[in-house]
Amino acid sequence: MDLTATYLGLQLRNPLIASPSPLSRTVAGVRRLTEAGVGAVVLPSLFEEDILEAERREGMLLDQGADVFPEALSYFPETAAPASSPEAYLRLIERAARAVEVPVLASLNAANAEGWAGLARAMGEAGAAAIELNFYQLPADPEVTSADVEDRLLEALQAARAAARVPVAVKLVPYFSSLGEMATRLDRAGADGLILFNRWLQPEIDFETGRALPGIGLSVPMDGRLPRVWIALLRGRVRASLAGSSGVESAQDLVRYLLAGADAVMTTSALLRHGPDHARSLLEGLQGWMAGHGLERMQDFRARAATPGRPAELRSTYVEALRLANSQDRGPW
Ligand SMILES: Cc1cc2nc3c(=O)[nH]c(=O)nc-3n(C[C@H](O)[C@H](O)[C@H](O)COP(=O)(O)O)c2cc1C
Repeated sequence: MDLTATYLGLQLRNPLIASPSPLSRTVAGVRRLTEAGVGAVVLPSLFEEDILEAERREGMLLDQGADVFPEALSYFPETAAPASSPEAYLRLIERAARAVEVPVLASLNAANAEGWAGLARAMGEAGAAAIELNFYQLPADPEVTSADVEDRLLEALQAARAAARVPVAVKLVPYFSSLGEMATRLDRAGADGLILFNRWLQPEIDFETGRALPGIGLSVPMDGRLPRVWIALLRGRVRASLAGSSGVESAQDLVRYLLAGADAVMTTSALLRHGPDHARSLLEGLQGWMAGHGLERMQDFRARAATPGRPAELRSTYVEALRLANSQDRGPW
């Protein structure tokens, strides 16, 4: 059975990718994920805040009259690069890419486009096979229009795309008025891949103290439904590769993404919950399913792919589901 898959123009030994998480923050972690069988690993993001902090440190060095080159940082203990600095990130890329056979992807997480381009190029030069842009901006200001938000995302992509010599994928959130149009604009602007979806971690209010707490939680399989609908709708409409991300707990979830038309499927929560070796059982489950359904290679999923349904059909499925639920005291939930 041939599990090889093509994603962002990269040849993967299989379509399962370990998405960014603490599991890939060290070379040993990347190696462990690779040994568990994943087709590629994405490193945790380098954050815009880390980039700004590095610029602040460089500014301090300039103020002190020092030549600014990475080695200079070690002569200034108070300004030495922290573990999360761009320098440390580039070193992690270099070491991880050398340590494993599968592609290692880098991730940039920012709310502003400025300053990304140089880093995007450096990441590719350090050995990243591709770059994920995680554009995490919260349009919380009621004066900011959807067009502003969308334009900033496109600018960020174009800047990174022009600078990087490796493929660039955009990790999307579903919160656009017309996600399909946004996806096609990103596609036309040169995105090599679209990842559906990133999770926004909403804070929770502490019941006792009334204070807002940072929200971090793992996904559940149901979280895969929305990205699968969008992958099915976008399949064949965009040139970019499509990666499914969210709610891959079991091999069934992985198979569902492939049936929806995903070129690659990512998982984080399940690997955090069960450990990196869970990747092996996901892949075994995929192979078992393919054998049971007469599929021999990834392309065979194309022939069986779920039909996305036209928008009118999606509405009628919704109406039908609610009618059925409202006609019974007890439903299938
Ligand atoms: C603990 C944790 C850390 C994460 N760190 C990152 C990150 O650094 N960059 C990023 O793009 N996504 C990050 N994510 C999001 C995941 O990569 C993934 O997109 C999301 O969890 C949905 O996939 P899942 O349902 O398989 O967990 C993180 C998620 C978790 C739970």
